[in-house]
Parts: sequence; structure tokens; C-alpha cells
Amino acid sequence: VASGAVPAAGVASISSGKRAASTASGFKVAVAGASGGIGQPLSLLLRNSQYVSDLRLYDIVGAPGVAADLSHIPSKAGVSGYGKDDVEAAFADVDCVVVPAGVPRKPGMTRDDLFNTNASIVQSLAEAIASAAPNAFVCIISNPVNSTVPIVAETLKKAGVYDPKKVFGVTTLDVIRANQFVGHNQNIDPKELDVTVVGGHAGTTILPLLSQIEGAKFTDDDIAALTHRIQFGGDEVVQAKDGAGSATLSMAVAGARFTDRLLAAASGVSGIRECTFVESNVADTPFFSSRVQLGPSGAEVVEPIGPMTAFEQANYDEMIGTLGDQIQKGVDFVNRA
Ligand code: NAD
Ligand code: LMR
Repeated sequence: VASGAVPAAGVASISSGKRAASTASGFKVAVAGASGGIGQPLSLLLRNSQYVSDLRLYDIVGAPGVAADLSHIPSKAGVSGYGKDDVEAAFADVDCVVVPAGVPRKPGMTRDDLFNTNASIVQSLAEAIASAAPNAFVCIISNPVNSTVPIVAETLKKAGVYDPKKVFGVTTLDVIRANQFVGHNQNIDPKELDVTVVGGHAGTTILPLLSQIEGAKFTDDDIAALTHRIQFGGDEVVQAKDGAGSATLSMAVAGARFTDRLLAAASGVSGIRECTFVESNVADTPFFSSRVQLGPSGAEVVEPIGPMTAFEQANYDEMIGTLGDQIQKGVDFVNRA
């Protein structure tokens, strides 16, 4: 058991090395849903992050086993696993909680079809964060992100600990997909791209701003095809997995990139700008994904959407009502009688 974070009796935990405080030497990070398809590779990547000194794995099943496995990977950082009833111990005083807990889609489902199951999972995790780690950054991966992020915000508000700079919907998978698809279309190394993708994280609410990519030249057909593929990339994976879930490995890479950059900024690295779904007033909905300047306090500056072409503006106009409805659904869920 990592020193200073003593789980309740009976919790199987593994620690390798001493735990550092959240200083220049690293941060305490919890993953909720750590045994899942995303949770395991994400935890593996965070195990190797220079910014993580104490990794806490929480899941209703299997987290101590995943922690035992990761603890054999050489690292100065601690790693510990917590079972179903030990969420408070898992989150105690952490700096950041990353949440890939909940059910994934099967073919024929929308992300909104996951709401009934995932809304309460995310709400209960947010309640635990409010009580055990009220100052933590919260990175929400669980779908439908357009509704689960407002659920977290409302739950933290009810507990009196909401800081809009610290709650993020992770939309980085849309960005890395855009980098990959655009890179191949333009014959540019995808690793050199960082496409701005705004809006939400579901179908047409995902809006890549291809016109803002410097130096790229697209035909109208390219723009239509690339925009559609970025918006529905998740469905491509759901169909290919044929009932076995949705994107996990690419999501783990995306989740680790976002967490790493957030923690880098928190540790004082300047100039980090990531697209992420946060509370803001840059659009016509209370939450919106756009480029955000990250710093020690979290989302320090939410940048405006910037210039849009007529095609992008038409896409925006068409989806913004849907995005607003999905956000309101999350707000209403927490405030239901
Ligand atoms: P999965 O079923 O493989 O794993 C989910 C894990 O969550 C399981 O280990 C399960 O035991 C755990 N879990 C369930 N309830 C829990 C609770 N109350 N507390 C802690 N853990 C709990 O699913 P997955 O493929 O890893 O996907 C997880 C979620 O991420 C889904 O909702 C999926 O739609 C979403 N997702 C989001 C993005 C994105 O871009 N934001 C990308 C891919 C998947
Ligand atoms: C994705 O974009 O791959 C995820 O949101 C999972 C899904 O349901 O498509």
C-alpha cells in the first residue's frame, strides 16, 4: 500500500517504491474503470508517464490484479489497486481522476443510448470525487460525454466544490483521428498535425475545422468525406468490433495524451493548448469543446472557435441545438426531483 494512502482493511493493493507528494516529482492520479478495455492500456501508459508518481486503479472488478501486473514494470512511481467498496481510499487526495468507467456501445446504438446506464455510474464517481478529492482535475471519458460532463459539473456544484477550470470532457480521440485521416489525405506525417476539433463528442456534434489547418489544400469532396469520417470514426470501430465494444486502444493513447499534457501544464510547462469539452461561453451552449490553454489551475483560457467556412458554419448551426439538448439532459439528470 502506498504510504499515506491506506485503503480499508481487505483491499488488495500493490505498491512499488515510495509515493511522492504532488510536486515537481509527479502527481497522484486515479483511473476509475481501470480494468476495462480502455482502463487497462490507459493505466499502462500512465504507469510510464513522467508526471505520475502515484497511480491508483479503481474498478468494481479486477483492479488489484491490474495493479499487481503493472507494479512489475520498473518505475519509481507507486501503483495500487482498489476494489468496489474502496472508492474513497482510491481517490483520497489525488490530483487528477481519469474516468473511463461505464458500458461501451454495440452496433446500432448511439452514444446517447448509454445514458441510462452510464449517467448513474458517473454521478456516483463524481460524488466520491467531491468527498475524497475535491480539488482534483476530472477527465471524463465515459459516454455520452456531451451529457456526462454536465453530470459531473452539477454533482460537484451540489457538493459546493465545482471549479469549471478543472472538469474536462476528453475529446482527444476526435483530434488524433483527425490527425490520422487528414495526414493520409494530405501526405503529411499525422504526428506533425494537431487539427482543431470543436463542438461535442457524438456524431455531427463533432466539428473538425479543417479550414484552420495551415498549408492544407482540400477539394470540397475531401472536406465532406473527411468531416464525415472524423464525426463517425467511433462507429467505424464499433462496427468492426462487431459487438465486442468500441475504441479502446486508440482511446487509451488519446486519454494518456490529454492527461499527460494536463499534468505537464499543471507542473508549469507553458504553451500547452488542447481541444477539450469544458464549460465556456465561446459558443451557444454552456459546454463546448474548443482549444483550451492549460496551466497550473487547469483550463486557464478557452480560446474562441476562430474563423469558420460556410460549410463549417452550416455544420455548427445544424448541430448546436442537439448538443444543447444533450447537455441539458445531463443537467436535468442530477437535478431531477
Ligand atoms: P469496458 O466495459 O471495457 O470497461 C468499463 C469498465 O468500467 C469495466 O471494467 C467496469 O467494471 C468498469 N465500471 C463499471 N461501473 C463502474 C463503477 N461504478 N466504478 C468503477 N468502474 C466501473 O468499456 P470501455 O471500452 O473501456 O469503455 C468505457 C467507456 O468509455 C464507455 O462509456 C465508452 O463509450 C467510453 N468511450 C469514450 C471515448 C471518448 O472518446 N471519450 C472513446 C471510447 C470509449
Ligand atoms: C469513440 O469515439 O470511439 C467513442 O466515443 C466510443 C464510441 O461509442 O464510438
